[in-house]
Amino acid sequence: MVANMTGKVALVTGAGRGVGRGIALEMAAAGAAVVVNDLGSSLKGDDGADTSPAQQVVDEIVQAGGRAVANGDSVASYEGAHEMVRAAIDNFGRIDAVVNNAGNLRDTLFHKMEEDDFDAVIAVHLKGSFNVSRAAASFFKEQGSGAYVHMTSTSGLVGNFGQANYSAAKLGVAGLSKSIALDMARFGVRSNAVAPFAWTRMVDSIPATTPEQIKRIEGLKKLVPEKIAPFVVALCSDAGAKVSGQIFGVRNNEIYLFSQPRPIRTAHTSDGWTPDSVAERVFPMFEKDFYPLHRSGDVFTWDPV
Ligand SMILES: NC(=O)c1ccc[n+]([C@@H]2O[C@H](COP(=O)([O-])OP(=O)(O)OC[C@H]3O[C@@H](n4cnc5c(N)ncnc54)[C@H](O)[C@@H]3O)[C@@H](O)[C@H]2O)c1
Repeated sequence: MVANMTGKVALVTGAGRGVGRGIALEMAAAGAAVVVNDLGSSLKGDDGADTSPAQQVVDEIVQAGGRAVANGDSVASYEGAHEMVRAAIDNFGRIDAVVNNAGNLRDTLFHKMEEDDFDAVIAVHLKGSFNVSRAAASFFKEQGSGAYVHMTSTSGLVGNFGQANYSAAKLGVAGLSKSIALDMARFGVRSNAVAPFAWTRMVDSIPATTPEQIKRIEGLKKLVPEKIAPFVVALCSDAGAKVSGQIFGVRNNEIYLFSQPRPIRTAHTSDGWTPDSVAERVFPMFEKDFYPLHRSGDVFTWDPV
């Protein structure tokens, strides 16, 4: 196998369910020893922990002849993140791949969003990705290798309704990934972001009332979470050695490479600008290239299967 993980150790956060569970199982099938992290929280992430989802995935891996341990720390805790990396070192002697996958949702329209809705989502997705990445960074630097994969979302890359907290966090994750790729390239460390599309409890929480929304949800139900895993494993393996600083998407059998923002128009005047000259010259000049207020679903309109 080209994209092999034999002899490597992977930490997958939020791996008790959904996309993360698929990645943990695929990592083990590819030969990796796996730390299966999951706090076992509700979708909102505001209840007590139940670590049984992580343990169930560990049991599956062990029954199939693989090596895995469960960890129930929260990615939102800096100390907890260090504990899960320590679980990799203590049990398997090293760490080679970190998949920042844990996630929660607190969807609400922006003008109704409470401070706690914002903080809770940033704490898990953005700060959590920082926490776990930072905890592994010292080991990656020391051994001169390592691969990060961070789950981003088209809610951040494109836009979505009622998800200002989540969109901000997920676009932040893309920026975090790119910066890690830049800063740690000198140590042979790679970092990439992946926007998954999968039918999990996270998507099941999207309200659907109109016939169009109900039709879209029926399409989303065809998206199998396990389909994200082969791409993530390939990225973490040595076969992905030349791949860093990129943003990808995976939707069933489709794999996307996303663009990254670059200037598309420029306006210049040797005299400088006044508010009036901006209004009179720049807005009309740029207008035809403005992006519509697209949501993710407006961009991914074709049948996923
Ligand atoms: N499903 C999709 O279509 C989709 C789309 C875009 C992005 N994503 C991203 O993919 C990732 C996985 O999502 P999913 O759809 O599998 O959701 P999911 O709810 O099925 O799984 C997320 C897991 O993360 C765990 N978790 C939550 N908070 C945690 C914490 N603080 N510490 C450790 N674990 C925690 C939960 O217990 C849960 O098992 C998330 O980052 C999500 O934002 C998913």
